[in-house]
Formats: sequence, C-alpha cells, structure tokens
Amino acid sequence: MGRVNPLDAFSALLSDEGRTLLAGLRDHDPAQELATATRLRREHPAELVSAALGQARLRQRAVAKFGAEDAYRMFFTPNGVEQSTRRTVAVHRAARLSALGVRSVADLCCGIGGDAIAYARAGIHVLAVDHDPLTAEVARANAEALGLSDLIEVRCADVTEIDTSPYDAVFVDPARRGGNRAGAARSASMRGGGRATGGRIFDPEAYSPPLSWAIEAARKAPRAALKIAPGIPHEAIPEDAAAEWISDGGDVKEAVLWFGTAPGSVRATLLPSGAHLETAAPLPDPPVRPVGRYLYEPDGAVIRAHLVAEAAAGLDGGLIDETIAYVTADELRPTPYAAAYEITDELPFNLKNLKALLREREIGVLTVKKRGSAVEPEEIRRKVKLRGPNAATVLLTRVAGAPTMLIGQPAKPVDD
Ligand SMILES: C[S@@+](CC[C@H](N)C(=O)[O-])C[C@H]1O[C@@H](n2cnc3c(N)ncnc32)[C@H](O)[C@@H]1O
Repeated sequence: MGRVNPLDAFSALLSDEGRTLLAGLRDHDPAQELATATRLRREHPAELVSAALGQARLRQRAVAKFGAEDAYRMFFTPNGVEQSTRRTVAVHRAARLSALGVRSVADLCCGIGGDAIAYARAGIHVLAVDHDPLTAEVARANAEALGLSDLIEVRCADVTEIDTSPYDAVFVDPARRGGNRAGAARSASMRGGGRATGGRIFDPEAYSPPLSWAIEAARKAPRAALKIAPGIPHEAIPEDAAAEWISDGGDVKEAVLWFGTAPGSVRATLLPSGAHLETAAPLPDPPVRPVGRYLYEPDGAVIRAHLVAEAAAGLDGGLIDETIAYVTADELRPTPYAAAYEITDELPFNLKNLKALLREREIGVLTVKKRGSAVEPEEIRRKVKLRGPNAATVLLTRVAGAPTMLIGQPAKPVDD
C-alpha cells in the first residue's frame, strides 16, 4: 500500500463521510482503538478510518488547551496541538492588542491557528501565515469550523515574504521545538548567549524564523508582540521592547516581547485572574530576615520577571536568603502574586529528622517543594514513609546560606 499524502488524508476528513466518522469518535476509548478501527473499516476506507482515529486522538489531547467545546470542532496536527498557544493565554494577548486599538494583525507563523482564533474573536482581522501546507489547511479548516472565516485569511507562505505594512500589528510565534537540539546547543555555547532553561537551550537564533528576524519585523510595525520561551535572559530583551511573563494556574507558559508600547518595562501576568505587576523601575530586593510565621512562594511569572520585590512590597516581609525567591513575614496578608504557607518548623536539612517528624505528626500526605536545594522532591517522596490522617508541606531551601527544611501547610486565606 502506498503512503497517503497528508493533505489528501486531511481533505478526505473534511468530506461529509469524514466529518460524520470523526463526530462518532468523540467519546471513543483510545484503549479500544484496534477494535474500533476493525469495525469502522467494514464500512469506510482504511485510510479515512486511520485519519479519523488519529484526529480523534489529537482532539482529546487538545481539550486541555482549548476546552472541549472548541477542541471537538477543531482540527489538529501532532506538532500543531503541541506548539499552539493555550486559549487562556491567547485570549489575554488578544485583549491586550485590542485595548491598544489594534484592528488588524499579521499572525506570522500561525500554526493551526491558536492565536489567530483568539484575535478574530476579539474582533481583529487576521492574516494568518504558515509555510507548512498541511498546517495552513488545518488553520483554514479551524477558522471555518469556528465561524471565523470572515475575519481570518490564511496564506501558505514563508513569513519573510509577507508585506506587513497594511496591518496595525505583527504577531510572531516562531517554531522552537523539534529543532536540532545538538546544533542549538553548539551555537549557543559558541556565542555564550544560550542558557539551559528547564532542559531547553535558549538560542533564539535557532528559532524558525530566527528571533533577530522577528524583532526587525516587529520594529517595522506600529505594534508587535513576539512570543518567546520564558527562559529568555533579561540581557537579551531589546531596549525598545517591553517584556511580559505569563503564567496560567501557577505554571509559567511563555514570555512576550511587546513593541510599540511601554519600552523598558517588565510585567508578570497571572492567569486566569489576570492580576499583573508591571514596572519600568524595579525596586531593590527586600532585606534578608529570619524566617517568620509565614512564607510566600511568588508565582513563577513574578520570579521570571524579576518582580519579587514588587510582589513583596505590600507584605511587610523579607527574603529568607539573598539568593532565594521566598519571602517571609510575621503576618498573613492577601496577595494574588504568591502562595502563602504557615510555617511550623525550621530545621537543618536532615532526612532522618524529617522522617521522624513526619511519623510523629502522623503525616499521610506530603507536598514537597524546593528552591535552592540540590535534593530532588522525588527522592524525598521515595524515602519517607507516609502514614496517618494529616497533611504537610516541606519546603527544601536555603536559609541564610544553610540547607534547611521548612515544614508547614498552605495558609488559610485571609479576606482583603
Ligand atoms: C509555534 S508554531 C505557531 C503556533 C500558533 N501560534 C498557535 O497558537 O497555533 C510555529 C509555526 O511556525 C511555522 N513556521 C516556521 N518558520 C516559518 C516561516 N519561515 N514561514 C512561515 N511559517 C513558519 C511552523 O510551520 C509552525 O507551524
């Protein structure tokens, strides 16, 4: 049997037969895939069945990013679902561009359309460009499936050939996964500009298109937003850009370089609440002080944006160590920018003592957190025996330079 052209397989999926088949697979159990495939092949061509099953799997994966209502109407490619912007973040960015008066945007590197959809839903006209023919077809199908074809024009082209002058804004989300990791590592270490960030190398010139191209494209437009890895070192932020780090549900998802607004400022945005901190003149670090009754763990976006001092400003607190982003205070104050823990014990790091304490307190559920400690939470979880009705949190860290375990639990919320 010859290999099926992916574009042909996708257009077969868009036929009435393909759509009906796919709709019937919405609640299908992936563990039963073989049996389902055998049954469906009795009535439909084998290629169509396998395309539908593949798409059904991708839709199930996409629910976490797009929500069930959209995910089961949309189409995906494996890379497309992996690389797309989650809806919450795309909606936030579209709202910011819309608030800046943007009515049309060139979405350069549109993928399957995660961002384009959010722009269109914010009422912005979108030129969505991707050089991969299948990805562009999928983006087109998504615009149609969501009733947004009037607002989204999809073009299959290399972004470097696009005239962006008719648009109010440019948005670039370069491809940065699945590249040549070894090559990226090599070029990063040669230039000394790369950073290992969460296992990935920050080498923006290995992006497709390279970040330097995206920055030039941004400077030509009245407004621009460039999506980049959150590990971008602050030294790499161009002076004429503003930088924003965005977390969703406490996980840092991405950074954005904004052009045409607030140059030199840094911002942390926490979704879903939308709470944000922003400054162009960062405060000095809070003083180091002894561990008090409460410990605040700033949100990752706050830490990446170097806004711990700003987050701590209303807490009347200090750092537990000059190199650690944990803030401590004697009083509990409400803040959207950090999770608060009530600390019951501060002990030098020692596994035997930790085990004894957990046994004595009858701890059956233990949350392990760490900052500035070489010990892996997994190792602790493996080595301690948990038995009993109580829960606790252990924070492995350094206090004034010494490896320390802070034991406590999430603080009960206080009213504003
Ligand atoms: C990170 S994905 C975009 C995801 C998109 N923002 C979304 O939310 O669905 C990057 C895309 O850029 C495309 N791409 C990379 N280099 C390109 C180029 N030079 N011209 C056009 N598209 C390009 C890739 O095919 C890929 O689909």
